[in-house]
Amino acid sequence: MKNTFGTSLSISIFGESHGEAVGLLLDGLAPGIPVDEDYIRAQLSLRRPAGRISTARQEPDPFRILSGVYEGHTTGTPVCIMIPNTQTRSKDYAATRFLARPGHADYTAWCKYHGFEDFRGGGHFSGRITAALVAGGAIALTALAQKGIRVGTHIRSCAGIRDRDFGDLAADIEALAHMPFAVLDAEAGARMLTRLEQIAEEGDSAGGVLETAVIGMPAGVGEPWFDTVEGLLSHALFSIPAVKGVQFGEGFDMADDLGSRFNDPFRLDGERIVTATNHNGGINGGITNGMPLLIRLAVKPTPSIYKTQDTVDLQTHEEAQLSIHGRHDPAIIHRARVVADSVTALVLYDLLAGRYGTDHFCKGEA
Ligand SMILES: Cc1cc2nc3c(=O)[nH]c(=O)nc-3n(C[C@H](O)[C@H](O)[C@H](O)COP(=O)(O)O)c2cc1C
Repeated sequence: MKNTFGTSLSISIFGESHGEAVGLLLDGLAPGIPVDEDYIRAQLSLRRPAGRISTARQEPDPFRILSGVYEGHTTGTPVCIMIPNTQTRSKDYAATRFLARPGHADYTAWCKYHGFEDFRGGGHFSGRITAALVAGGAIALTALAQKGIRVGTHIRSCAGIRDRDFGDLAADIEALAHMPFAVLDAEAGARMLTRLEQIAEEGDSAGGVLETAVIGMPAGVGEPWFDTVEGLLSHALFSIPAVKGVQFGEGFDMADDLGSRFNDPFRLDGERIVTATNHNGGINGGITNGMPLLIRLAVKPTPSIYKTQDTVDLQTHEEAQLSIHGRHDPAIIHRARVVADSVTALVLYDLLAGRYGTDHFCKGEA
């Protein structure tokens, strides 16, 4: 039973949706990484619910850095960040305590924790915990940016509506950094929002696909077998609640096609070896090839919906009907995208520190 990931950088998360706080402990960060609290706040605001397509639960996320940061830089000792929960309304959950929400983790939590789990608001399974990953991810994103590595995610599709493909990656990543609803084609974004509002009116929910690009990753990072770049990234990305698929490059689309169409031919760009196409999403043999990493995440529709659903009462063992009242997101995808950036950055930090050593990210004078 552990909630820790990573080798050179170990990431532990803690907390429950309606408990005192959520947070994380990062052990293995280099000394000297700038920690800009305004940037952490800005990243957290991208995850926060907003508008009619989000839950009415508004959390100001007043995070506190308890250790490992002094005068605006990491010290090299464990960084603990805590985000108190302030907007809990646990009574919404009391009446349906034993009615397992279809698609949510109530039943599996019951099986694993034998009824001792804090069920309120989804407890430890809640999307609320991802706030901690975003706060810690901001430090990893800063460290990567200092090495010229940039991460950006857009909503590739949502409720059946497609965004445009990534184009100039540096420009797109820069633009996405400031977008509350991360869609590159504004017209497609407007259509997604209209559709999501309709779905919310109907008491239903929708999912979508996120696409993350990483530029500036050096070639030669990763391990050939178990700790492949795909393996470690997907391991961590699958922890994001509601992520049900992870694809690298063209992934499943390559499976039914031809090598002649999907191999990425090598070329020279000055002294640099590059590939003419990037169907493999920047990874060959589990190791980065120096091209941009391209990752897609399938995000399922929010499980908590306002339509009445069939379920089972876990206490009485009788079939029952569930009608939910609490506050839920009709779509998660727009909030999950900064979580995708953050988790990706934390994993890449771990991989790079493993390859080049902890001091790779150190800005110290000594
Ligand atoms: C940012 C974020 C917010 C979420 N908000 C909700 C929510 O309001 N209601 C809900 O039922 N699920 C929400 N989820 C998804 C559930 O936590 C998730 O579906 C559940 O824990 C079951 O896990 P699984 O879908 O990965 O199997 C959210 C997920 C994320 C990433």
